[in-house]
Amino acid sequence: MRLILTTSKGIEDLAKAEVEGLLSKLGVPFRVEERPLGVEGRVLAEVGKAFYTDEKGRKRELSVATYLNERSRLFHRVIVEIASASFEGIGEDEPEAALQRIENFVSELPVERYVKVSESFAVRSFRKGEHEITSVDIAKTVGKAIFDRLSRFGTPKVNLDHPTVIFRAELVGETFFLGIDTTGDSSLHKRPWRVYDHPAHLKASIANALIELVKPDGGSFIDPFCGSGTIPIELALRDYSGRIVCLEKYRKHLRGAEMNALSAGVHKKIEFVLGDATRLGKHVESVDFAVSNLPYGLKIGRKSMMPKLYMEFFSELAKVLEKRGVFITTEKGAIEKAIEENGFEIVHHRLIGHGGLMVHTYVIE
Ligand SMILES: C[S@@+](CC[C@H](N)C(=O)[O-])C[C@H]1O[C@@H](n2cnc3c(N)ncnc32)[C@H](O)[C@@H]1O
Repeated sequence: MRLILTTSKGIEDLAKAEVEGLLSKLGVPFRVEERPLGVEGRVLAEVGKAFYTDEKGRKRELSVATYLNERSRLFHRVIVEIASASFEGIGEDEPEAALQRIENFVSELPVERYVKVSESFAVRSFRKGEHEITSVDIAKTVGKAIFDRLSRFGTPKVNLDHPTVIFRAELVGETFFLGIDTTGDSSLHKRPWRVYDHPAHLKASIANALIELVKPDGGSFIDPFCGSGTIPIELALRDYSGRIVCLEKYRKHLRGAEMNALSAGVHKKIEFVLGDATRLGKHVESVDFAVSNLPYGLKIGRKSMMPKLYMEFFSELAKVLEKRGVFITTEKGAIEKAIEENGFEIVHHRLIGHGGLMVHTYVIE
């Protein structure tokens, strides 16, 4: 079976490592490839059949897709690939010709294996690159091809709002693929614990990527701009044994973080502190790891205030940080100046896609 796993751009290597770790526990052969055919935000996993023994001692096949949906922290979707193809020159095709190519391809696929006669279906689509066609065109064309094929076996049922089976059709550049989205309409990064919705919250998948980058070893950990608590909560959910502090300047957000932690069942594992990160030394004497999604001044505050805020924060951080820090922001100039002028070294930098932007991420020591 081939699974297409989706995640944020720029964290495919970390997501690949996660899926390798999960699959290695199943004792089945597998191969994992990041950015298959160069497509960003995607990881391909080829996995052999896995089995488990049920309570009556019978050998049963394990759904690897369900296993990954339930355990992954870095992925957004788990899609079972039906087929993929490279449509050379599709970007230059007239819309009708491009859609005809897609329809011809899909109509040859054995989609009836994935939808029972009693089940309803819908097609969700995604498109990226230079094309004359839209993602809505793709969804309609693929939906028609599937409907026509299923009509040979019975009367197909379409339900666009609450389908039993979700087909996912993607055209990225010249690569097209069709699969079954086993995750459903709500992406895995939308965690069920989120009851307080901070206007600038970080995706939980990216929070976990930042945790992977800082490599906390059980030492004390702080998110000094913790907002609704995404990073501390995701760390606590990993059964982290060390001290975890969530520092936030505004009471409303800190209360929200507490509500989220209660809903996640990890409230007791986190210390919630109302305070100013530019006075960090007042709140913690020393801390091993600091990870934060810094204010960018886009949704909250003003952009012009960021250089001063960053300078004051990193000068305080220099007094307390023992091991490593990971910070994510759009404000490249302001953060690099603050990091360097306060005696830190950038040991790793990468760009991560978040909210339509490519955001700078730094590991510092
Ligand atoms: C980008 S948001 C963090 C969002 C958080 N990662 C989440 O997922 O909810 C930045 C947060 O920093 C807080 N903040 C701004 N200035 C601060 C300061 N001086 N000290 C502490 N927190 C501050 C803002 O109120 C905001 O909640």
